Amino acid sequence: MRKLIADLRAVTGPARVLTEPDVVAGYATDWTRRYLGAATCVVSPASIAQVAGVIRACAAHGVPIVPQGGNTGLVGGSVPPAGGTGPAPVILSTGRLTSLDPVDARSGQVTAGAGVTIARLAGHATAAGLRYGVDLASRDSATVGGTIATNAGGIHAIRYGPTRAQVVGVTAVLADGSAVGEISGLTVGATGYDLAQLLTGSEGTLAVITAARLRLRVPERPAAVLLAGVAGIDAAADLLARIGAAVPALLAGEYVDASGMALVRRVAGLPPPPGPGCSGFLLAEIAADQGDSDRVEQQLSSVGLPDETAVAQDARGMAALWAYRERMTEAIATAGIPHKIDVAVPSVKLGAFAAELDDVVGEASDASRGTGARQFGQPLVTVFGHIGVGNLHVNVIGPDPADPSVDVAVARLAAAHGGSVAAEHGVGRAKTGWLGWTRSAAEIGAMRAIKTALDPAGLLNPGVLLPSR
Ligand code: FAD
Ligand code: MLT
Ligand code: ZN
Repeated sequence: MRKLIADLRAVTGPARVLTEPDVVAGYATDWTRRYLGAATCVVSPASIAQVAGVIRACAAHGVPIVPQGGNTGLVGGSVPPAGGTGPAPVILSTGRLTSLDPVDARSGQVTAGAGVTIARLAGHATAAGLRYGVDLASRDSATVGGTIATNAGGIHAIRYGPTRAQVVGVTAVLADGSAVGEISGLTVGATGYDLAQLLTGSEGTLAVITAARLRLRVPERPAAVLLAGVAGIDAAADLLARIGAAVPALLAGEYVDASGMALVRRVAGLPPPPGPGCSGFLLAEIAADQGDSDRVEQQLSSVGLPDETAVAQDARGMAALWAYRERMTEAIATAGIPHKIDVAVPSVKLGAFAAELDDVVGEASDASRGTGARQFGQPLVTVFGHIGVGNLHVNVIGPDPADPSVDVAVARLAAAHGGSVAAEHGVGRAKTGWLGWTRSAAEIGAMRAIKTALDPAGLLNPGVLLPSR
């Protein structure tokens, strides 16, 4: 690997190729600590030309590449695998692709480097009187490139759609080192396949995204955030639908179950929510009526909110209610290494899914015990997520993180209810084997054909997204 490292240093400069084992190990470990890989080195190119140079050097040495943004991905796609027979991959970090153009007020768009964080992009849009439509609790680290590669959803997907709906264009480098894409900002065009949309959700398997042209939104002021104690997930979905029908627009519709609420309160030191004994909680963020934020009280009066509801209309109060939801992921991480199963379920099936979940998790956990894996007590199960788009995050702590039985069982349950095994986190390394439960053989065949055409040597993120044959 010495020659490869020398070649990479020639492309980026010596300081931008990291080989110290401790440093490399940090990049090769995912946010959850469940996926730990082995990498040859970490290289940080600063331009599209350097990205092409890195890819060509790796191709010449037959060494795979794992593109990495903020490394906040939750399905193992941003880190290399642990074992393997071939050479350990190179991690290509986008941390130096951080250019951010002035907002184009005429088109309401902006061009951002792949390594720009979502928090920086959001602040930039706000300073120009606009808003970026995707927001997520990992905003300080998650990047433009990573969120495009995973088609990230987040808390405002109910209003603005997932990342796919924000992407106007991208530039990227293919596995043969050729640069493709365009970021002129045109929203019309009929010249064939749309590469930007093809690369959205491709999880680093087709190209390295270097920059993106993104749609910004007219900001909508929240008039209120409410947190209501409810009798489970179906009640939460019904209540959200009633609120949605009564107000101008929903900016967010989120769910936290009782177990998640207890955990986040304990870890984050939060006061009791309304209806502390309830089995679930709905958080809704409501857009203001243009020019009349007081109307929200009148609008909500027709909804029949439960007694166990807190409504905040000032910034501080709204942030205090959001904290129960925003700090969930961090709270779970303090309790152990979670099995994180991000699924989507049609809204009419949410209740049935939730009703079967405990048994399914219980049986899978028992099976996990039977394998002789590390012993554990009662599994800690929390369910939360973006209920307004049917996206639930089932988190289980207890079963050995190396044993996927519980992940498989929950994903099968979602598929059995007509749902998806990956709603917003992507497939990564974690879910490749489940793709066939919700995508047809013909679709997987088409995806494989695209991969083979663009990356015949399997250089870019092998083992991610597509199941092995
Ligand atoms: P990484 O984790 O570095 O990479 C993710 C994938 O994208 C990998 O497959 C990687 O190879 C690929 N990739 C990265 N950059 C590029 C590039 N430039 N070109 C090609 N491929 C690339 N996700 C949601 O969808 N909604 C949420 O609400 C949400 N909340 C979160 C909250 C917390 C606290 C945490 C830790 C994570 C959360 N996530 C959420 C998951 C994660 O933040 C997203 O998946 C995010 O899109 C990953 O961005 P990243 O820059 O960290 O990408
Ligand atoms: C969230 O919605 O908070 C995220 O997707 C992170 C998670 O699933 O833990
Ligand atoms: Zn989420």
